[in-house]
Amino acid sequence: MAVSNRISRRQFLRTNAGSAAAVLAGPAVLRAAQSNQPAGDDICCGMIGTGGRGTAILNALKNVPGARVTALCDIDAKNLNQASEIVADDNPKLFKDYRKMLDFKDLDAVFVATPCHLHKVMFVAVLKSGRHCYGEKPMALNVADLNEIVRVSKSSKGIFQIGTQLRYDGKARAAVRAIHEGKIGKPIFIRMSRHNDWDMAHDRKWLFKRKFSGDTIVEQAVHEFDACNWVFKGVAVRAAGFGGQAVLFEPEGRDLMDHYTLSLDYGKNKKVSYSHSWISGSKAPINNIQLAVLGSEATIDLLQATIYPRTGRRFDKTESIKLEPELKGHRNRLAVEAFFDCCRQGKKPLANVETGRDATLVALLGRMALDTERVVTMKELLA
Ligand SMILES: NC(=O)c1ccc[n+]([C@@H]2O[C@H](COP(=O)([O-])OP(=O)(O)OC[C@H]3O[C@@H](n4cnc5c(N)ncnc54)[C@H](O)[C@@H]3O)[C@@H](O)[C@H]2O)c1
Repeated sequence: MAVSNRISRRQFLRTNAGSAAAVLAGPAVLRAAQSNQPAGDDICCGMIGTGGRGTAILNALKNVPGARVTALCDIDAKNLNQASEIVADDNPKLFKDYRKMLDFKDLDAVFVATPCHLHKVMFVAVLKSGRHCYGEKPMALNVADLNEIVRVSKSSKGIFQIGTQLRYDGKARAAVRAIHEGKIGKPIFIRMSRHNDWDMAHDRKWLFKRKFSGDTIVEQAVHEFDACNWVFKGVAVRAAGFGGQAVLFEPEGRDLMDHYTLSLDYGKNKKVSYSHSWISGSKAPINNIQLAVLGSEATIDLLQATIYPRTGRRFDKTESIKLEPELKGHRNRLAVEAFFDCCRQGKKPLANVETGRDATLVALLGRMALDTERVVTMKELLA
């Protein structure tokens, strides 16, 4: 794509600061959008891993003012070329080897969206190169690697944001704020579930191998565990549960659980009940993600930001209370904009290296409980 096209799109975005993107952006991005800063002041970003998630992020960031995609890396030429089409206006340089990409000068921030077993080595390499890093979840697949990423991140000049984007969702933010302000009384019990029929249809070979993905609980449920940690302001102290592999996996040598149920204890009067599977009927009313927090005075649907007061009368018709979302827009886009905002201001992201570690720790704790079929404590996991 011609350079003049690229500049005109960026100029368009800057001179249309009243657009939805500009209104939603954090202050620094907004400043960039409103100024007529030269393209050289843009945050130059790269991406390692341009598959499903990488593509979703590129689509979210391609029109963010003040950012330019200068480099893309993937070992799969087809995925790389398809991704380069998405940001063709930016004319990114293409790489097969991420280490070569990190030698490239025109790079301030790097998104990493590769299979989970590669996260640790890539996050550390990006941070050690002095760049900002947006790393996909789960942060790593074992405690030692989690600690290593935290250690490197703390001594790096770049900021680190983890890809648990629920923290940037307008409704979830309004709901958690209401909980922390006491609007449902004391949060006591989280009832959550994730069931679907589409994940098993993926063709990603790495996803179905525990040593590459960490299993369903680590690869996927970190989103929900992050929400529990956020609500209860801490991590689970013990876990117990049962799971198994019932459908489809064996013939292809897949070694994940396709269903499990897990209980988490976050301390006195703070409990979680979670069920997760890939085997639900397509049209079943549970074929989705649900997350409700039951408090001493009300229940809140965290994903819908709706409060249901506890009245003590069985047939009470009290209306539910719908909260105003804190932000409007898709959480993917909001997470990316917030990342750029933090890069510019050197601010710690909401979804940061500690929240990434803690969500993964709860997933590893749950996995250990499911593997051993006994109550496992966080102390035991960390020992
Ligand atoms: N935050 C979210 O909601 C969300 C959603 C989906 C996936 N994810 C996460 O994103 C990551 C990627 O998942 P996906 O679904 O996009 O998988 P994917 O298989 O579609 O994409 C992974 C890409 O990484 C590339 N890759 C593999 N090894 C590489 C290497 N050494 N160097 C460069 N590229 C390499 C692959 O060729 C592929 O294009 C996973 O960690 C997953 O858990 C997050």
